[in-house]
Amino acid sequence: MRPFVDYYKANNISPVAQNIDDLDAHFARRRHLARLLGVVPALIEGGSVLEFGPGTGHNALWVLAQRPARYDLVDGNPVGLVQARELLVPRCPATTSLTIREAMIEEVAPEPIYDLVLAEGLLPTQNDPAGLLRHMAGFVKPGGVLVVTAMDGVSVLAERLCHLYSMAAVPADRPIDEQAKVLAELWGAHLSTLKAMTRGHVDWVLDNILHPWRGRLFSVAEVIETVTDEFDILGTSPHFLQEWRWYKDLRQADCGANRSAVADYMANLHNFLDYRGLAEPRPDADNQTLMQLSSEVVREISMLTPGATPGEVAPIVEKVRELHKVIARISARTAQSVGDFLAVIDTDGFVLKPTRSFASFEGWFGRGQQYISMTRRC
Ligand SMILES: C[S@@+](CC[C@H](N)C(=O)[O-])C[C@H]1O[C@@H](n2cnc3c(N)ncnc32)[C@H](O)[C@@H]1O
Repeated sequence: MRPFVDYYKANNISPVAQNIDDLDAHFARRRHLARLLGVVPALIEGGSVLEFGPGTGHNALWVLAQRPARYDLVDGNPVGLVQARELLVPRCPATTSLTIREAMIEEVAPEPIYDLVLAEGLLPTQNDPAGLLRHMAGFVKPGGVLVVTAMDGVSVLAERLCHLYSMAAVPADRPIDEQAKVLAELWGAHLSTLKAMTRGHVDWVLDNILHPWRGRLFSVAEVIETVTDEFDILGTSPHFLQEWRWYKDLRQADCGANRSAVADYMANLHNFLDYRGLAEPRPDADNQTLMQLSSEVVREISMLTPGATPGEVAPIVEKVRELHKVIARISARTAQSVGDFLAVIDTDGFVLKPTRSFASFEGWFGRGQQYISMTRRC
């Protein structure tokens, strides 16, 4: 099964549309993200941009508004591309050559000609994220910029616990839109705590709960290390990079920025667990334990299928209890949320109650997806 594309096509969906009623606010958010990644508007204006996996094209709108000379979009899901065309073609500046192509990324032959290559929300959960990243990196010209996203077991733990509960609770024999409606109601109060959310609840359920994540997650460190021979880190969101060296203190061509970025990421890994707080950096060994246990829980949850029996879920819940003790040493608030999640399971098992309250589990989200920009060495 091809990640994303087969699931989206089979269900005739592209569950990534955003509310852009306030287009200025949407553009302000995208400009802020781009700035953190070093993607200043002047890099785009008059330049060449390639975007993989634009989905419905809502994020592409801002790129298009910066008037690139050439903007090529490639996505394997025709459903999203219908919406992307409707959104982008009427708004295309006269000076931009725009192409929107239905194709699998792997099937497009790399040419290192683009100033900017974007691949947002598609690398983690691929079957071979490292291979796909290397392939996409081959389109960036020397001095150009590559933007991708990463997710790890720590940053998606909270959402994956929603998935765990949902997989055992949802009536698996119902059509997917009915399942999505029931689950959107179940998680409605939880999602409503995210005031800045721009995606609809049903789309969130379709993409995060009902979407099978059979592939591999891919962390910030893995992104950097996969292309470290040819690319240097430029920026991240969230922005956790530290660089205190005198810039002249550089003795070889390799500026050491990638090693430093991976170290910053590992020292701050616990900060990806809960978006509500921020703590001081921690020793590497402590965060390695957190990463290992969280990744195991997330991987085992991903192997479940809709309608999983409480018996199949029980060993995973046991591992969550172990993780609960590790998390208690990081944040009392996050530990309380994990504890409340476990209490719901202890009380009710996996009985779907759309109106139930998850107590302080409601409102706990990780820093789910991170953005990384890297520039290709000249
Ligand atoms: C989760 S959506 C992200 C959409 C948009 N970039 C965003 O961030 O909102 C992932 C998109 O990538 C596309 N995609 C994923 N893997 C692909 C592949 N191997 N080839 C072509 N398209 C792919 C999917 O069809 C989907 O439109």
